[in-house]
Order: sequence, then structure tokens, then C-alpha cells
Amino acid sequence: MHIKPNKDVHLCSRKSIPLGNLNNTSPEELFNSDIMNDVRKKMLDGKCVEGCEKCYHEDKINNGQSLRTFMNNWFSKYLFEDVVLPWKEGFLNNTAPTDINVFNGIKPKIKWVALHASNVCNLACRGCYSLLSTKWRKDEEKLGINPYPLQNSKLDDFGFNFSEIEFITMYGGEPFYMKQNDELSSLLIDSKTVGEKILQYFTNGMILPSQETFELWKKIKKLHLIVSIDSYSKENDYFRHGSKWETIVDNLHLYIKESTNQNWELRISTLINIYNVHKLDVLHNWLVMQGIPSSNIDYNLAIYPQELDTRNLPSKFKEDVIAKYKTINLPINLKNMVIEHIQLEPNIDFLASAAFSNKLDEIRNQENLLPELKVYMDIK
Ligand SMILES: C[S@@+](CC[C@H](N)C(=O)[O-])C[C@H]1O[C@@H](n2cnc3c(N)ncnc32)[C@H](O)[C@@H]1O
Ligand code: SF4
Repeated sequence: MHIKPNKDVHLCSRKSIPLGNLNNTSPEELFNSDIMNDVRKKMLDGKCVEGCEKCYHEDKINNGQSLRTFMNNWFSKYLFEDVVLPWKEGFLNNTAPTDINVFNGIKPKIKWVALHASNVCNLACRGCYSLLSTKWRKDEEKLGINPYPLQNSKLDDFGFNFSEIEFITMYGGEPFYMKQNDELSSLLIDSKTVGEKILQYFTNGMILPSQETFELWKKIKKLHLIVSIDSYSKENDYFRHGSKWETIVDNLHLYIKESTNQNWELRISTLINIYNVHKLDVLHNWLVMQGIPSSNIDYNLAIYPQELDTRNLPSKFKEDVIAKYKTINLPINLKNMVIEHIQLEPNIDFLASAAFSNKLDEIRNQENLLPELKVYMDIK
């Protein structure tokens, strides 16, 4: 179950239709609801589920590899064989059961909760919005959008018994900037089940966790620490507004050192978008040089907001990207996925992307750092 800061419950982190809201329903009721059972049945029958379009799209352009198939692979090993694979192996091995009868007689139980415990965040990344970041609120007002309010419930108010849940993902807002993460660490650190926990965090890399969280990580079964970085150096600061590259580099080096000592799985998550698609090699190769294995760098195509979707770039820019991708040093799967995606017909006019970008530059007092893209954005 995937919980947004306003307690809407979704199937996963991707755009999908909420199953309900925890303000008026308990997690168990939603987990065993008719809607959820219908989703289970459709998935087992191999039928499409509304709201899962991004994964079906990835399946098509990426040799059957999507978040959906990845999760099926990883969790089938965990649920049926009690094996905690490295996270990346979900992408590599197809271990999901093909005989749906394996589920006969199994009563669904909540094993994994992915929680946006609040929208408190120190950044306002261009791909994000106020439901996930309080820092976006002011800018949305200036853009004429009615922002989401501060969402800051106590961890207890979500209605889960977190000491019983085996796998917990902390999203945000920024997990290491919010009180709920400290509440979780205090709850788990001395619990009887601490040694069985798999904990996963998505962080923007600007803020280190508390000492207690570091101590907790030494006691758990497995840690996945995922640092979101979208570009190299100043271009990352431009997109991930409010971040400071030097701080991210220092924190990343600390994570690299600790993850080697403690057997933590450190990963990078990069959102492929109009600003970075032509320069992914610069970031990727820099990360590898710092000691992050290439297979620990995850890429996610921006589909929402549409203004960031690379399919909407001008044709000439797309042609240049495709030509470049034929020669640059990046994993072949990634190159194929980007080329397949960028060749799709636009779903909005690039003028809308340019207008959005220019307006954000103006209200944030930022300068577009990408001259090769900026020439297409000068529309005054
Ligand atoms: C919303 S953030 C919350 C956790 C943390 N603040 C961070 O940035 O990693 C979780 C993930 O969503 C990604 N994300 C942000 N905007 C997105 C978008 N428009 N589409 C898909 N993923 C996005 C971020 O890059 C990050 O990896
Ligand atoms: S750091 Fe994470 S939550 Fe905050 S604005 Fe960026 S993507 Fe959104």
C-alpha cells in the first residue's frame, strides 16, 4: 500500500487512482476492500488495471521491464522463499511465479507500506508539487494554482502497526527533514521485530538522518537507501531547487563509505526529463567514478507533469538526442528506453513546456543553465 501525505491510499508511487483515504477507513478495510480484490483478480488474470498505464507503457518500450514486473520479481522471492534479493536483481531476473495457483489459500496481509508521511520538504524540484513538498506552495500560488496545505499528521495517525510491518518505505517530503521519520526510528529501534525489518528511504541527499536512525540501520535486516539526483552539479541545483551540489557530494561520499562497511544497498534515482535527457551520461559516469555501480542507478521517465516529458521536446532537439545516444557511454537498456520514448508523438505542444520553464525561472529568479535547450524556449 502506498500512502500519500493527505492519507490517500494508492497501489504504488505512480499516478494511479486512490483506493480510498485513511481519514475515514482503516488500512485493513482498504486492503481487503472490493476495489483491491478486483485489482488482485485482474492482475492474476493478466488483465489491465486502470491507473497502471505508466508500467504498461514501460513494458512496451523496455522489453517487458517496468516497475510492475520488477516488483513482481523481487517480492516473489521474498514472499515465497524468504529471500531478500539485492533490490537491483528485481530488474535482472524474472522469478515471478507463472502459475497463479501459488496464491490459492493465501490470505492477503500487509507486508509492505510505502509512506509519504508528510509533505514537509526542504526543496522544490521542478518535477514535484505541493502535495509532496511544502516548498512548492508559494510558487504554485504565483503560478495561479491552489496549493495543498501542510500535511503533518503524527505517525500514529496513519493507523498502521509499523512494528508488525516487515517492509517500510519512507518517501516524502523529505524523510530526513520530517518528525515522522524520527518517530518511526524511536518506535522500531528497541522493538522485538527490528532484526526482521527491511527499510527503504528516498532522500534528496541534502540532509543526513538523525543519529538514532543511523543506529537503527545497524540493527535491521536490510537497508535500501535511495538518493535522488537528476543532473550533475549546478544543473542538479537548478532542477532540484534549493539543493547545494557540494552538500550532496559530501553526503553521498559518506553514504558510499558507510554502505560498503555495513552492507547497505545504496542506489541513485534519476528522473529523465527535458532538462537532463541529453546529458545523462555526464551524471551517470560521474556516479560510477564515485563508486556507485552502474546497475545501482535507477532511471524513471517523467510522464507527469507533461511539461517535463521528453516526448514533447522539439523535433530537432529529439533528433540530436537520438544521434548522441548512438555513440554515448550509457547502459544499452537505458539508451533503448530513452530512444523509444522520445520518438513518441508529443502529447502537449513544447510551447507549454517552455512557458512553464520560463515562468518558473522568473518566479524563482533562476537562470536557465542549458543553452542548447534555452534556444527553443525563447518564445517572447
Ligand atoms: C517525491 S520524492 C520524496 C523523497 C525525497 N524527497 C526525494 O526527493 O528523493 C520521491 C521520488 O519521486 C521522484 N519524483 C519527483 N518528481 C517526479 C515526477 N514528476 N515523476 C516521477 N517521479 C518523480 C523523486 O525524484 C524521488 O526519487
Ligand atoms: S526533494 Fe523530493 S519531495 Fe522534495 S521537492 Fe524534490 S522530489 Fe519533491
